[in-house]
Amino acid sequence: MAAVRARRAIEKTEKITQRRRVRRGNAESRIGHFCYTFAFTVRGFQFGPFPPDGREIIYEESMAIRRVGVVGCGLMGSGIAQVSAVGGFETVVREVSAELVEKGIKGIEKNLNRLVEKGTISEAVKSEIRGRLKGSTSIDDLKSCDLVIEAIIEQLPAKRELFGALDALCPPATIFASNTSSLTITEIATATKRPQRFVGLHFFNPVPVMKLVEVVRTIATEPAVYEEMVAFGAKLGKTPVRAHDSTGFIVNRLLVPYLLDAIRALEEGVGSIEDIDNSMKLGCGHPMGPLTLLDFVGLDTTYYISQIMFEEFKERRFAAPPLLKRMVLAGWNGRKAGRGFYDYSDPQNPKAQKF
Ligand code: 3HC
Repeated sequence: MAAVRARRAIEKTEKITQRRRVRRGNAESRIGHFCYTFAFTVRGFQFGPFPPDGREIIYEESMAIRRVGVVGCGLMGSGIAQVSAVGGFETVVREVSAELVEKGIKGIEKNLNRLVEKGTISEAVKSEIRGRLKGSTSIDDLKSCDLVIEAIIEQLPAKRELFGALDALCPPATIFASNTSSLTITEIATATKRPQRFVGLHFFNPVPVMKLVEVVRTIATEPAVYEEMVAFGAKLGKTPVRAHDSTGFIVNRLLVPYLLDAIRALEEGVGSIEDIDNSMKLGCGHPMGPLTLLDFVGLDTTYYISQIMFEEFKERRFAAPPLLKRMVLAGWNGRKAGRGFYDYSDPQNPKAQKF
């Protein structure tokens, strides 16, 4: 039985190898039987066993992304939907309720109006962009998308459940991406039967302004899919950087310990809130001090990220300081809550808190 299974696997590998050979010319044909065995070994190492349902994996070398689905229309999701529509892609953004769809789309319209006022785009271009953007509360509207980007709550079970449902809905060629900032892409991808067509696309807040996107590959990501996603990031006007699926990727690996250390410095009385922020703004040229940035990102978000990173690396630099935990418990989650390290009762003139 095992021998039959192994033979079938080798036959499938041969088919894949042959298909690749047709596309790439005859270069591989001279390598002979060793190549088949090698391809099988490498493929098995990269992706694990063949799909249990017997489906054959089709290696697409390139596919045109035309229609993009975004799941979640909060701060990140609406920003991603905006840059996708601006980048020329038909975009459908899905939220769980009509109110949340409306709120997200209104934010995008406000941003587009600001671009018209500044003369960056004309009224006609704005209408074209708006015409490419559709809000929805139905997951079914994502089924004809070439790429679906998830930007929902930073919780593994919720993401796995969503991708399981999308996997059953979308054609096998659809590429899936998660905007997670700290969860393991591999762990999310294994909720689907297409880990080879799964990447991380990590955007930064505010998405329309920040120039970076981290494009994250797992050991299972098909190279052609990965390159397609790097190219997609560039089409959105971002600078894509390549990162492996290591918790926190590049930016949060460096940023999170820095932010947590700023809280520790405050706890230890090294400086006041304003002095810590001014030090990094004026001494290092950062656009925001670390405590202002924490309020901007959200203290709850930073707390969850630090927990995930601490769990992964077991290093003190990723551990949440007690003050952060207490602020989150009190609901002082930063700018969105009206209160964090600063009080935003007057949003134009935030006042540092006294602890
Ligand atoms: N949406 C769209 N555009 C926005 C915006 C938003 N939410 N907020 C600001 N802008 C635009 C403004 O319209 C303005 O455009 P203009 O130059 O063409 O007129 C420009 O950004 C600058 O805005 P402001 O003049 O109002 O304010 P600042 O000069 O202080 O810039 C900022 C605001 C861009 C947010 C800047 O302070 C900054 O870069 N801060 C750091 C942000 C940062 O580090 N983000 C990454 C967070 S980490 C993360 O997201 C990862 C996660 O996993 C934790």
